[in-house]
Amino acid sequence: MKHVVVMTGDGIGRVVIPLALRVLDAVGFKADYVRAEIGWDLWRTTGQPLPEATVALLEEHGLGLFGAVTSKPSQEAQRALSPHLRDRGLRYQSPILELRRRLGLSASVRPCRTWTGNPTNFIRMGSQGVETPPVDITVVMQNTEGLYAGIGWSGLPEPLRTALESHPNMKAFANAPSDQLAVSCRLISRAECIRIARVAFTTASAQGRTQVTLCDKWGVMQETASMLLDAAKEEEKSWPDISLRTENVDALLVQLLRTPERYGVILCGALVGDIVSDAASGLVGGLGFAPCANLGDACAVFEPTHGSAPDIAQDEPSRANPIAAILAAAMLCEHAGDTGAATRIRVAIERTVEMGETRTPDMLPLNGMVASATAEEMTNAIIAALDQT
Ligand code: NAI
Ligand code: MG
Repeated sequence: MKHVVVMTGDGIGRVVIPLALRVLDAVGFKADYVRAEIGWDLWRTTGQPLPEATVALLEEHGLGLFGAVTSKPSQEAQRALSPHLRDRGLRYQSPILELRRRLGLSASVRPCRTWTGNPTNFIRMGSQGVETPPVDITVVMQNTEGLYAGIGWSGLPEPLRTALESHPNMKAFANAPSDQLAVSCRLISRAECIRIARVAFTTASAQGRTQVTLCDKWGVMQETASMLLDAAKEEEKSWPDISLRTENVDALLVQLLRTPERYGVILCGALVGDIVSDAASGLVGGLGFAPCANLGDACAVFEPTHGSAPDIAQDEPSRANPIAAILAAAMLCEHAGDTGAATRIRVAIERTVEMGETRTPDMLPLNGMVASATAEEMTNAIIAALDQT
């Protein structure tokens, strides 16, 4: 029997993950679920938002389903600590980023596709009138390096300052005291560039695509962007039917918002991929429709890409859209070899969205006074549709 480590985390993670588990049960996915803790409350009460026990469970079972965590800037994190933990030099780090690094979950795969009938789908005015081109984009993002390596300093330590001063452009900072400087570091390795490029081409091939679009900012982040580009060009040689295209990320976002149907698989480094994938989700209904797989050699963790959504997390009953979490559960089924269950879940979502009787508030027009469904009602509708697949 497979074991899935379940981490609901904070905010709406606590709503949507239990609902996704109900769908997994309803589709007959065979697994035992092991609960594990992660998140803000643990930080406040123990100073450790990612317990070793959680890492150990994931190492043991290799499969996880994660909701969301709340993260806050470091000063706020310090203030939130229980009094007995303050002044102990504890430093807050986003536990999901740390989890990805600890378990080597170096590839993030983030599919975004149109669900027919969703009123918040992308539309535009074409020469023949209103057009609704279907969007079907998968962002493949490096997950553990670059600006997500978590290497940075508030105030430059002296050896770092000395090292940086070997670069001519540091002259611009010559008059700034070290304690008035901050650095977040984009450090990447060739090994990971090769690995993520391979995931992108493999994904494109599995989806029958003829192109991979690499996006970055070559003029600005020359060294790191070139390393990823070289790796992608090298990988391209192994795929005679797939060509590599490159676009600067700013220009790509313009085209993405105008002609999203031009894009299939988009390969990015950390952060750039996060921005591009959130933007892509906006074309298909937003974060409530955006799942993500975090893939490593020995472990895979699936999650909705959204965060803990503090603005709606206290709503009772919750009207958070559970679809992203349910799609993450479908990706988990597929990864675990149960493609039948994954397909049935997706067909049930397709039917539910297309029928249009059940819509959470994020699916309604902004001025809609229409009654909206709760997270639970949406899940019930999907489970009912599942019975007909
Ligand atoms: P967010 O994704 O939590 O929310 C952004 C907006 O989208 C909010 O208006 C929210 O209500 C809405 N939204 C998100 N998911 C939704 C859903 N399923 N249904 C309906 N509406 C939904 O991002 P935000 O506000 O930037 O961050 C909030 C907290 O979450 C922060 O503490 C942040 O650090 C954390 N976060 C955690 C992530 C993770 O655990 N992987 C990812 C992103 C943010
Ligand atoms: Mg995100």
